[in-house]
Amino acid sequence: MKERILVTGATGYIGSHTIVDLLEQDYQIVGIDNLVNSSIQVIDRIKKITGKSFEFFECDLRDKPSLSDVFKSFDFDKVIHFAGYKAVGESVQEPNIYFSNNFVGSQILFETMAECEVKNLVFSSSCTVYGNPKDVPLSEQSDLNPTNPYGRTKYWIELMLQDLCNSDPNWNVISLRYFNPVGAHESGWIGEDPLGVPNNLMPFITQTAIGIREELKIFGKDYNTPDGTCLRDYIHVCDLSLGHIKALEKIGLNKGFLPINLGTGNGVSVLELVHTFAEVNKVTVNYSFADRREGDAVKVWADPTFAYDFLHWKTEKDIKDMVRDAWNWQKKNPNGYN
Ligand code: NAD
Ligand code: UFG
Repeated sequence: MKERILVTGATGYIGSHTIVDLLEQDYQIVGIDNLVNSSIQVIDRIKKITGKSFEFFECDLRDKPSLSDVFKSFDFDKVIHFAGYKAVGESVQEPNIYFSNNFVGSQILFETMAECEVKNLVFSSSCTVYGNPKDVPLSEQSDLNPTNPYGRTKYWIELMLQDLCNSDPNWNVISLRYFNPVGAHESGWIGEDPLGVPNNLMPFITQTAIGIREELKIFGKDYNTPDGTCLRDYIHVCDLSLGHIKALEKIGLNKGFLPINLGTGNGVSVLELVHTFAEVNKVTVNYSFADRREGDAVKVWADPTFAYDFLHWKTEKDIKDMVRDAWNWQKKNPNGYN
C-alpha cells in the first residue's frame, strides 16, 4: 500500500475524479466533505468504477473539533485540499461566505495539519489568480491580479501558504493553478453536477443539448479573437486528476511553496467548443449571441512548460475527448446524481 492521503472536498467534481486515480494507484484514502455542493452517491459510484473502498467523513473544514478527530484517527502523509466554494458571480454577491468558507476554512485546515505534523499539501488553486491577463500564455511568473472575491480567496490562500513555508521548512506545498476543467470519467459514472443554472460553459452546453435548457447564450461575438468569441484553456478532468498524483509524487523535491499551472497550452473559442460538441456527439446545440459578460477575460491559456519539466506531466486528452465524455455523463445522468 502507498501513502495515506486526506482529500478535502472528496465528493466534489475534481475530488471524485482524483480519488478514482488515487485508489487505482493503491493510495490509502480518507475523504472529507460537508456535501454542500455534492452528493453522497458519489462514494458508491467511485466504488463501482474502482472496485475499492475508502474512508469518508461528513465534516465541515470549519468544524475544528471534528476535523481534529479525523486527523487524530489516522496518520496522514499528505493532504489534497479541494474543498471550497467556486462560483465567481456568487462571490461578488456574497463575499463573506467566500472569505469564511475558502479562506477561514483553509486556515483551520492548515492549523490542524501543523498541530498534527502533517505538512505536505497539494492545494487547488485556479488560473483566476491571474485575472484578465494582458499577455498569454500565462506562466507561473505572470502577474497575479484576481478580479473577484473568489479569485482573491485563492490568491490569499496562496500567500498564507507561502508564509507557512517561510516560517517552517517542514512545509512542502504545491499549488496547482487549474485552467478550465471539463469532461467526465469515461465510464459516465461520475461527472460535473452543478446546482441550478450552470454558470460555466460546458455544463450549459450539455444541459442545452439534452433539453433542460432551451438555448445557450454566447456572451459576446465581437472580441478581438479569430471568431470573435473568448478563448480558454479547457482541460479534461482526468488529465487534471493525474496532475495531482504527479504532484503528490514530487512534493518535497522543491522545498517550500511551488505554484504550477495545469492546462493544455491551447486556447479554444466558445464557438469552437460548441461546434466540436455538436459534431462529435451528433447533436444540436441551440445558441444565440448575447452581450459580453461583465468581467470576462478575452484570452486565457497556460504555458504548461513548468508542469512538464517538474512534474513530467502533460495533458493527453483533446477537445474531442472532453466533449465526448461530458456528453456521455450527461446522457447517462440527465438529472445529475439525483
Ligand atoms: P465542487 O464544488 O464540485 O467540489 C468542492 C467540494 O467541497 C464539494 O463537494 C463541497 O461540498 C465541498 N465543500 C465546500 N465547502 C466545504 C467545507 N467548508 N467543508 C467541507 N467540504 C466543503 O468543486 P470542484 O470543481 O471539484 O473544485 C474543487 C476545487 O478546485 C475548488 O477549490 C475550486 O475552487 C478549485 N477549482 C475549480 C475549478 C473548476 O472550474 N471546477 C477551476 C479552478 C479551481
Ligand atoms: N460562456 C458563454 N455562455 C455561458 C457560459 C460561459 O458564452 O452560458 C463563455 C464565457 O463568456 C467565457 C467562456 O464561455 O468566454 C468560459 O466561461 P466559463 O464560465 O465556463 O469559464 P471562465 O473561464 O469564465 O471561468 C471559470 C471559473 C473561474 C475559473 C476559470 C478557470 O468561473 O473561477 O473557469 O478554471 F478560474
